[in-house]
Amino acid sequence: MAIQLGDIAPDFTADTTEGTVVFHEWLGDGWGVLFSHPKDFTPVCTTELGTVAKLKDQFARRNAKVIAVSVDPLESHESWISDINDTQHTKVNFPLIADPDHKVADLYGMIHPNASDTTTVRSVFIIGPDKKVKLMITYPASTGRNFDEILRTVDSLQLTANYSVATPANWNNGDDVIISPAVSDEAAKAKFPKGWDTQRPYLRVTPQPNL
Ligand code: BEZ
Repeated sequence: MAIQLGDIAPDFTADTTEGTVVFHEWLGDGWGVLFSHPKDFTPVCTTELGTVAKLKDQFARRNAKVIAVSVDPLESHESWISDINDTQHTKVNFPLIADPDHKVADLYGMIHPNASDTTTVRSVFIIGPDKKVKLMITYPASTGRNFDEILRTVDSLQLTANYSVATPANWNNGDDVIISPAVSDEAAKAKFPKGWDTQRPYLRVTPQPNL
């Protein structure tokens, strides 16, 4: 059955460019971002892995680790990483899972047979400290992902996990947020001492509470 939000992220053991990873152990008690690539030595994937390498500090600041998966074997990954480092002017600094038998790809439903029988689509799974899947996105092979957007969603997930708020369209860290409809005005007085703007009874806007 397909993975859904709130499910425990399936655990697995896999060979990676940074040694054997037991996924749940590797996640520890922080956040994780697992993302798939159709194939080694492909142009869009090359730019994506380079981009993530450059953003690793941004993920680390959010207590989030990144790990990529591609269906090619380890020797292929190692040779491809050297191309990525050269062409993207960076150093791949996170593990790339070798998944030639599609074990991880199948566990996470990353192969969409009507798109391709043999390669993964561009899936992203964001996993919380409780090992539950908090967010999933899927792009086709031909569209590279926006990893600033993935950082933005981590910010939203972390904020909304800790405060009774939701983040509106195009929200970025620091912008105003929306008080959860489940919070009464009475309860909101204690939770949101900076006050709020009631645009409709169901649409109450307040400054981001952790700033
Ligand atoms: C790419 O990463 O460039 C790519 C991979 C598979 C299909 C199309 C593009």
